[in-house]
Amino acid sequence: MGRKKFVVGNWKMNGSIEENQSLFDGLLSAKGIESVDIAVCVPSPYFFQARGALSGTAISWGAQNVSEQDSGAYTGEISAKMLVDLGAEIGLVGHSERRSMFGESSGLVGKKAMKLIEFGISPVVCVGETLEHRKSKKTLEVMSSQLKAVIDQIGLENLGNIVLAYEPVWAIGTGLTASPEQAQEVHSHLRQQVRLLDVEASRELRILYGGSVKPDNAEALFGQEDVDGGLIGGASLNLIDFLTICRAAVNATTH
Ligand code: PGA
Repeated sequence: MGRKKFVVGNWKMNGSIEENQSLFDGLLSAKGIESVDIAVCVPSPYFFQARGALSGTAISWGAQNVSEQDSGAYTGEISAKMLVDLGAEIGLVGHSERRSMFGESSGLVGKKAMKLIEFGISPVVCVGETLEHRKSKKTLEVMSSQLKAVIDQIGLENLGNIVLAYEPVWAIGTGLTASPEQAQEVHSHLRQQVRLLDVEASRELRILYGGSVKPDNAEALFGQEDVDGGLIGGASLNLIDFLTICRAAVNATTH
């Protein structure tokens, strides 16, 4: 059995009760997407709405960030325990917007991933290089070091509990996308790094691509051997676009 494709919407700081509801309704009534896993990461004020609309359905939901702490005087933070209490199934950690705008280091990202694992939530661990890294041919080196920092925190025994997302920083929200070949090169490198530590985990590990995935480029990306789906920002806010991307994952599975 191959790895089941996974398409995750990252709504970022967008949405309203009304807009969210129409996305939830549209996703729940869509046909022909049962063969792929689908999730949406919603802003925290809408966790209750996501729980009401999606719990017990085929669509999962999750958070875009989590605290590495358990509880206490951390104003504005959200704990993994709260997420579990609400029924969240996944959580993004290490998104490049958090790394660059909120100063999150790879070590902190690893701690957050571990906290989610402790509470039975799958972390979607984002890694990605900047344009400078790519230009100076440091992409694979940077990927290895971001991945290692996370594995150092979660331990080899948890390699089977994470999803990875390769998100080149230069491709996020810019309309520039990694070519299918560029994505495959990095995904295969990441899988190889995991294979050196645990062959079985490397076979099962799902590695998503993120960065300007759109209806017209999704199928070519998802058709690459080591690309197991996508992390979708802008296009996940448009029902038709997001569903088209989910169907591209279905097509890439069957071809
Ligand atoms: P984008 O965002 O699809 O809008 O480029 C992807 C992401 O940041 O997860």
